[in-house]
Amino acid sequence: MASNRKLLVLPGDGIGPEVMNEVRKIVAWMGRKRAVGFDISEDAVGGDALDRHGVPLTDAAMAKALEADAVLFGSVGGPKWDTLPFDKKPERGLLRLRKEMDLFANLRPAKVFDALVDASSLKPEIVKGLDILIIRELTGGVYFGEPRGVSTRPDGQREAIDTQRYSTSEIRRVCAVAFELARKRNNKVCSSEKANVMHTGVLWREEATKLHKESYTDVQLNHMYADALAMQLVRWPAQFDVIVTDNLFGDILSDEASMLTGSLGMLPSASLGAPDATGRRKALYEPIHGSAPDIAGKGIANPLAETLSYAMMLRYSFDLGGEADLVEKAVENVLAAGYRTADLLPMGSDAAKLTAQGLRKVGTQEMGDALVKELDRLV
Ligand code: IPM
Ligand code: MN
Repeated sequence: MASNRKLLVLPGDGIGPEVMNEVRKIVAWMGRKRAVGFDISEDAVGGDALDRHGVPLTDAAMAKALEADAVLFGSVGGPKWDTLPFDKKPERGLLRLRKEMDLFANLRPAKVFDALVDASSLKPEIVKGLDILIIRELTGGVYFGEPRGVSTRPDGQREAIDTQRYSTSEIRRVCAVAFELARKRNNKVCSSEKANVMHTGVLWREEATKLHKESYTDVQLNHMYADALAMQLVRWPAQFDVIVTDNLFGDILSDEASMLTGSLGMLPSASLGAPDATGRRKALYEPIHGSAPDIAGKGIANPLAETLSYAMMLRYSFDLGGEADLVEKAVENVLAAGYRTADLLPMGSDAAKLTAQGLRKVGTQEMGDALVKELDRLV
């Protein structure tokens, strides 16, 4: 359907294209049933782009991303490209998008669906009803800091350098997003760093505190070292509402948080830039699970994180909260109906036991079809 909503789809590598195919079904459904159309273009990223064009992201694709209202991203990377030099790796395609679109705020909600309480590796009473939002700084820190690289010292030893750098404005803008979003939730922000050992941690804590005093005293703020936070996330996750942290800690802590929800295959994310004069933010939506080369091509990947990323896109980029609710409801209902991709089932669970529990092991496509059917039922 023709539309003035410009969407760039970048399926990428591994399970990216597989889960994206299921989201396409939902995109088509939205066009058909809710008149939510997009002007969709598609391009290659990651290993796929390397194979076709010799670079992890072409300049043309980069330009398209900058022009789009939103980018829907799959995943990048895989063993085939692991031996490439650093600046040629598939991951550089994603990092270039993040950097050039200036997507500094990465929202990673970890929400436990009731039906999946038992899929978590933690006790049900610890995770039931859990709803936390990790905000990861995405365009600074050790992912991008200079100097970086590998060199050989005069004594013949090789030496590698990565640099963690943060400026006041980089810290303030991401913390502001955390405070703003906390106001729409439970009004609590936990800011995390390692101010006990890192200068960037000290600055982070000072700037978060200052900004809070200046503009957000109505929001509750506390600080926690990132290692302690990693521990508290599995001890008592419900103490958190919004967590704001740097690029590397956010990468690690969000993987950890995903397991509270039952599977890495459940977590969506939104990466947002600053609003322009018209209030529009550049945005990229992606599941946090990555390309999962071990299960790619087998038709067993969980399409729900990509589906929930699409729902986040409807909500944040297009102000279609009702439609986003609908997609999220469909996800909730298919889970409640017992549909499970392999990642959502206990290791080594057998078919007879599953049937007895009212669970049904399904592949990627069956899960996508179940979602569309559920959407039909809902409207
Ligand atoms: C993520 C991923 C990426 C990251 C990789 C693929 C570059 O792990 O989005 O969490 O480290 O940021
Ligand atoms: Mn990660």
